[in-house]
Amino acid sequence: MQELSPNPKDLDPIETASRDEIEALQFHRMKRSLKHAFENSPFYRKRFIEHDVHPEELKSLGDIAKFPFTYKQDLRETYPFGMFAVPQSRLVRIHGSSGTTGKPTVVGYTANDIEVWANLIARSIRAAGGRPGDMLHNAYGYGLFTGGLGAHYGAEKLGCTVVPISGGMTERQVTLIDDFKPRIIMVTPSYMLSILDEFRRQGLDPRESSLEIGIFGAEPWTNAMREEIEQAFNMQAVDIYGLSEVMGPGVAQECVETKDGLHIWEDHFYPEIIDPVTGEVLPDGQMGELVFTTLTKEGLPMVRYRTRDLTRLLPGTARSMRRIEKITGRSDDMIILRGVNVFPTQIEEQILKCAGLAPHFQIELTRSGRMDSMTVHVECTPDRADTAARAASAKELSHHIKSVVGVSTSIEVRDPNAIARSEGKAKRVLDNRPKE
Ligand code: DLL
Repeated sequence: MQELSPNPKDLDPIETASRDEIEALQFHRMKRSLKHAFENSPFYRKRFIEHDVHPEELKSLGDIAKFPFTYKQDLRETYPFGMFAVPQSRLVRIHGSSGTTGKPTVVGYTANDIEVWANLIARSIRAAGGRPGDMLHNAYGYGLFTGGLGAHYGAEKLGCTVVPISGGMTERQVTLIDDFKPRIIMVTPSYMLSILDEFRRQGLDPRESSLEIGIFGAEPWTNAMREEIEQAFNMQAVDIYGLSEVMGPGVAQECVETKDGLHIWEDHFYPEIIDPVTGEVLPDGQMGELVFTTLTKEGLPMVRYRTRDLTRLLPGTARSMRRIEKITGRSDDMIILRGVNVFPTQIEEQILKCAGLAPHFQIELTRSGRMDSMTVHVECTPDRADTAARAASAKELSHHIKSVVGVSTSIEVRDPNAIARSEGKAKRVLDNRPKE
């Protein structure tokens, strides 16, 4: 295996700059970006005037708190191009996030935005241990979703040989990994599990595969899942975070040498953690909702964008830029069950503790009368599929969930392959409660 820690001379100087240097750059860029939004996006101009603030009032980074938040709803209401700060003719690409219903939220990039994005993905892949010359199997979906093309151009920028396979056709994914021998794979963690199943189905030993590094993101996943994937493939598994409204993948990236959370590329994105209810800015270290202000985006600058993602800010380690802790989940995905907050990641963690259970699961919510109930559908492993083993696994899981998460659940231990497989982002929650 190649050396994973990067040679310091290969890093962008800002990755290891002092906090003072980073903050000076952020302040300069934030000022410019707010001015750009105010002068060129009718949406922001109106918003700032309504809130009685002007870009000139930014005297320090903390002054960003004077500015109003931006919400996904704002993108929906101005669909498709109403928030853009450049004429359409200056955009070289459009992406969108599918959302669960109806129309996508649309984002646009100038040539410079695409260049910055490619550089940040290149930086992210390098932080994950990738090097020029590596072959990279890119199984993020190509299309309106930012995962495929975002990763693609960054990997090329670093000097990798990209296999642009996109998501789906799992059998072929495994065949090409076996034939081409990529060192790196980029894919959602849940789809990596489908690829793992397919390796086994084809009688191939995943630990013998050429894959050394997996760069997994686009959905929440736990350190327990990291362990599972690393063991199964004998590889390094690191986390990549991003969202289309702010850019796409590569807003934050975990370094392979520390695997201690994701460094936000703070030279391009200014993070805040806020109390999701009051909107108050919280000090570093406290858990809350992640909010981003873009510092260099031209096509679609974002001011205090409410991500709905829950995490906390931590000081830099392998890089000077601050880290976010692995995302617990989105506030939208939080289940409130008889007064207890539950995230699918907490269930994932407990499943991975139980021998005899595979990490394929779905949470079903139902209601009878005024009582909500949660059923965890989870697969048994093929070697523990008999009735007695299943009953024991169900009992164990139910006990772990009750004692760690604090809720009573019913557990349905299903046959191997009974749970629908993801080819991208997994759908973890099935809400079968009557609509109010
Ligand atoms: O998922 C961008 C992306 C592609 C990130 C590939 C990483 C890899 P959207 O479709 O706009 O963009 O969804 C963004 O996905 O707000 C989070 O809720 C979730 N998410 C993304 N990365 C992670 C991660 C892409 N590493 C939304 N951990 C975000 C947890 C993540 N959640």
